[in-house]
Amino acid sequence: MPAAQHQTNAATRDQWEANASGWHRQGAVVRDWLHLPTKVLFEMAGIAPGQAVLDVAAGAGDQTLDLAGLVGPKGRVVATDISPAILTHAAAAALAAGYLNVETHVADAEDLALPKASFDAAICRLGLMFLTKPQAGLAAIHHTLKPGARLAVMVFAAPDQNPCLRITMGTALRHAGLEPRDPFQPGSLTSLGRPGDLETLFAAAGFKGITSTRIDAPFRLPKPADYVAFLRDAAGPVIDIVSHLSAPAKMAAWAAIQSQLEAFQTDDGWVGPNSLILTAGTR
Ligand SMILES: C[S@@+](CC[C@H](N)C(=O)[O-])C[C@H]1O[C@@H](n2cnc3c(N)ncnc32)[C@H](O)[C@@H]1O
Repeated sequence: MPAAQHQTNAATRDQWEANASGWHRQGAVVRDWLHLPTKVLFEMAGIAPGQAVLDVAAGAGDQTLDLAGLVGPKGRVVATDISPAILTHAAAAALAAGYLNVETHVADAEDLALPKASFDAAICRLGLMFLTKPQAGLAAIHHTLKPGARLAVMVFAAPDQNPCLRITMGTALRHAGLEPRDPFQPGSLTSLGRPGDLETLFAAAGFKGITSTRIDAPFRLPKPADYVAFLRDAAGPVIDIVSHLSAPAKMAAWAAIQSQLEAFQTDDGWVGPNSLILTAGTR
């Protein structure tokens, strides 16, 4: 029987506080990986010039800057995240890019503390699955949307469609001497990956016109070592699992992950399978 994870939002915040700089440093890898699915996400949310857009769990702001460009100077983007450290990267990136239409707001997505019916659209890219109560997060976002506004979220699909995540998490836990975890445990990487779960949560939060799509978004990197370097720098949930190991034990864990990921080497480089679910609904 898989062990319960008992992850809290505060523990997740601490993970991302610790790995904020890593996620920012790996921005180019994240961008190559998620650029195309993010375009689909924006289409599903109906992003358009002049809108006020809420970006939930915005992280270091990669998708925030894209939103800022799309809504233009007459629009605005409010980037929110539970981690103050990661949002400083988003704010700095917006300033460096000359976007004056971006504001940042530190908040747990389950309690956004933003005015009712104040946004024309909302997105959440790879954040909702980390919430221990995603239903509360969806209700909080619903509250901030104007009638007719759309929310689109992106999460990881189930582990059977995400072998890189499954191998990485399973190997890290084994090396750390921990029990396997329920992959659908609230707050975990694949917690919302079961087909139909997101639609049910959207409907319960009051969203209408719900649509979903699954997108393959493989990592394309030269070698598995490059993916492992990305994980070691930026993947908070995995880094956390091996963090208590001695340096040699940690190295052994990463080496074991890397050797299994060799299976995805092709003549055209390393193509690590990754599968995403995108779901949208209207307030
Ligand atoms: C995988 S990163 C994604 C960041 C960004 N959206 C992107 O795609 O580059 C996950 C983000 O979710 C944030 N997060 C996790 N739990 C959260 C919560 N309860 N409320 C708000 N943000 C949260 C983390 O701080 C982190 O910035």
